[in-house]
Amino acid sequence: MSTATAAPATPLTQLSAWKSLKAHSEKIRSLHLRQLFKDDPGRGTRLTAEAEGIYLDFSKHRITDETLKLLLELAKESGLRARIDAMFSGEKINITEKRAVLHVALRAPKGEKILVDGQDVVPDVHEVLDRMAAFSDRVRSGEWKGHTGKPIKNVINIGIGGSDLGPVMAYEALRSYSRRDMTFRFVSNVDGTDFAEATRDLDAEETLFIISSKTFTTLETMTNAHTARAWALKKLGDEKSIAKHFVAVSTNAEEVTKFGIDTKNMFGFWDWVGGRYSMDSAIGLSTMLAVGPENFRKMLAGFHAIDEHFRTAPFEKNLPVLMGLLSVWYNDFFDAQTVAVLPYDQYLKRFPAYLQQLTMESNGKHVTLAGEKVDYQTGPIFWGEPGTNGQHSFYQLIHQGTKLIPCDFIGFAKTLNPLGNHHDLLMSNVFAQAEALAFGKTPEEVEAEGTTDWLVPHRVFEGNRPTNTILLEELTPETLGKLVALYEHSVFTQGAIWQIDSFDQWGVELGKVLAKKIIGELEGKDPGGKHDSSTNTLIERYKKQRG
Ligand code: F6P
Repeated sequence: MSTATAAPATPLTQLSAWKSLKAHSEKIRSLHLRQLFKDDPGRGTRLTAEAEGIYLDFSKHRITDETLKLLLELAKESGLRARIDAMFSGEKINITEKRAVLHVALRAPKGEKILVDGQDVVPDVHEVLDRMAAFSDRVRSGEWKGHTGKPIKNVINIGIGGSDLGPVMAYEALRSYSRRDMTFRFVSNVDGTDFAEATRDLDAEETLFIISSKTFTTLETMTNAHTARAWALKKLGDEKSIAKHFVAVSTNAEEVTKFGIDTKNMFGFWDWVGGRYSMDSAIGLSTMLAVGPENFRKMLAGFHAIDEHFRTAPFEKNLPVLMGLLSVWYNDFFDAQTVAVLPYDQYLKRFPAYLQQLTMESNGKHVTLAGEKVDYQTGPIFWGEPGTNGQHSFYQLIHQGTKLIPCDFIGFAKTLNPLGNHHDLLMSNVFAQAEALAFGKTPEEVEAEGTTDWLVPHRVFEGNRPTNTILLEELTPETLGKLVALYEHSVFTQGAIWQIDSFDQWGVELGKVLAKKIIGELEGKDPGGKHDSSTNTLIERYKKQRG
């Protein structure tokens, strides 16, 4: 094991930069953004960074130059550089699963070399991409026919977690680039309603199912896949029809074959692609079918541009590093529990949900790489809604509540749907919200408006609420790739600082195991009664009411 993959020698809280940040945070806790901007009129242009068409304004953060210096020192002392290099060179940095972490190889251009166990994986990546492209072209052109000779009009991706959230998010984000004469749906929940509603108005003769599962053993996905099979067979009759209406995306050829899908209709990926980092692997087949191979490749180029930026840019200009460090700052020194992600673009409506898995499954960890319990906070809770909808619901709490919630505002200079002054109105809200959160409204300002005394405190905005503003030119396949890579690497940065394994997910296991036991009881195969009194009573009540 190299030093970059091993647990760091010095515990995080013993690092000198950490200790300095602790002392420094006490000193500047009461410093207000109003003061910081007053003292430095150039702050709004100085504390910004730009790369690959992404402009990051981080001036509205409760930081001074000293804070930044110390955060950058923390990155250095944490060995972030060595960890980045270890990831890019295919070292097994996912130590608990003994796996390399190489989503960056999924978007490496042809000719680049990335070795896993001595073997270059880039040619394999391109071989799968080429097969996906050939298949997509056949389906999109109508050359690929269903069992009864009709072209495919509907595509249903069945998957969950990383095998669903990325594909749905990307489809919604790139809808404007998608085939409008085709229907794309996504079934994830084991709740039968999901499948029933997704298929109720579709003709099986024109429907293609993509069964997306890295393991091909996930209960929800396999249950939905079997239901889909029965649904298709009911209409199409013949077992042979499966070959025309089902394809698989997986790393598990054996299980795919067992399910009855010929491996020539399977698109593979590798154990070095984590589920939540897989939207640009074959898991993105639905995305490619929707937007076409060329747009898919543009998205990959966007990812790659930010990969290169992350790998090579000095930390003080490195967007994911800066974002990651600022997230650590509030999480660990201001007790901030959550981060709100607020995309001001309706096409990004599933982006917060996608980020929830990316960030929380990655950094929701309670022990270090060495297996020791952390004595600091790790991953914050991510949540959000597209603007301006959130403004009319939960922004009240962000502005005037008692909790500190750092926010990421994401906006585009150009809209894909120019309608009157809608876009300027939308963007005026991005700028207004970040301004209001930072500077608020003082009692004096409220009084000066003629507000009666007793009402003044209710109308005061304390301000000093930190935000990132991320501006891009236009939502395109390429900018989407850049945006996702930005967050992927910010998550990496945070995990490296917290000395945790950001690439395993043991926390999802226990519930799965218990559900497997309980299903036996619900189906009457097991007499049950072996749980705690609460669980036993709930199961009994359910069985009685269910009848
Ligand atoms: O339950 C969590 C998880 O393992 C995720 O990490 C993963 O993205 C999801 O399940 C789906 O897994 P699979 O692609 O193997 O079906």
